[in-house]
Amino acid sequence: MKVVILLGAPGAGKGTQAPLLANRLGVPIVATGDLFRSAVRDGTPLGLEARRYMDAGQLVPDDITVRLLLDRLGRADAHGGVVLDGFPRTAVQAAALDEALAERGERVSAAVLIDVPEDEVMRRMSGRWICRAAGHPYHAVFSPPHTPGVCDIDGSELYQRADDEPDTVRARMAQQLGALADVIAHYRTAGVLLSVDGLQGIDDVAAAIDAALVEAGLADAVESEDVR
Ligand code: AP5
Ligand code: MG
Repeated sequence: MKVVILLGAPGAGKGTQAPLLANRLGVPIVATGDLFRSAVRDGTPLGLEARRYMDAGQLVPDDITVRLLLDRLGRADAHGGVVLDGFPRTAVQAAALDEALAERGERVSAAVLIDVPEDEVMRRMSGRWICRAAGHPYHAVFSPPHTPGVCDIDGSELYQRADDEPDTVRARMAQQLGALADVIAHYRTAGVLLSVDGLQGIDDVAAAIDAALVEAGLADAVESEDVR
């Protein structure tokens, strides 16, 4: 079972890289932010609860988040492995994931940190548009869709996330970067942390992640044009 975690500040590019990586490894993506946004859209009790925290730029409490994630990991399509985008976000979540995997005799294969300085992530989020159907991310300047306002992949409408408003972006940075440092430390100690320079174009970041996974023995080397 391959369990590869994408780590990074809000706006670092986790959601951009997740589909490329999942495709490469042949496993599904589980993104807690997407699961929460879909619960908000459906107006479920979980969505109503999560929305209070998301709108304030805060992390949703660990007990709610861990339950949601473990429930998703229990589904059949995740049994062969998974790319995790946006989970774990705290040391408590990281420990809960370790425990759940250990019960199956498994462990985290790699935690890939997409390393991007704070001023750049602010710039990236201010131009972001995502699709209604699956949350595929675009950027007005760095990664525009072929047709304005329409997702290249599934044709759904593009919109701007409520929590990408500048004050909320600042709150997300202030409230979440400390916990991210704890999670990075957790995986460094476990010996599975891989770090890539996120301050490059999208294709170069994808290639750097690929090279790191090949070096760690988690993916076979392929010709570079086959990576995407
Ligand atoms: P979540 O949806 O996970 O948001 P996030 O971590 O803040 O990350 P983002 O989705 O904002 O950024 P990203 O790294 O995916 O960047 P992207 O690829 O889009 O979480 C939202 C909220 O839900 C949280 O604030 C919290 O409240 C709650 N939540 C979720 N998980 C939780 C958990 N585990 N525990 C507790 N609470 C949780 O890229 C950003 C932009 O940059 C895009 O426009 C993209 O096109 C562009 N871009 C990407 N890469 C590049 C590049 N290399 N060069 C130029 N532009 C680029
Ligand atoms: Mg994302």
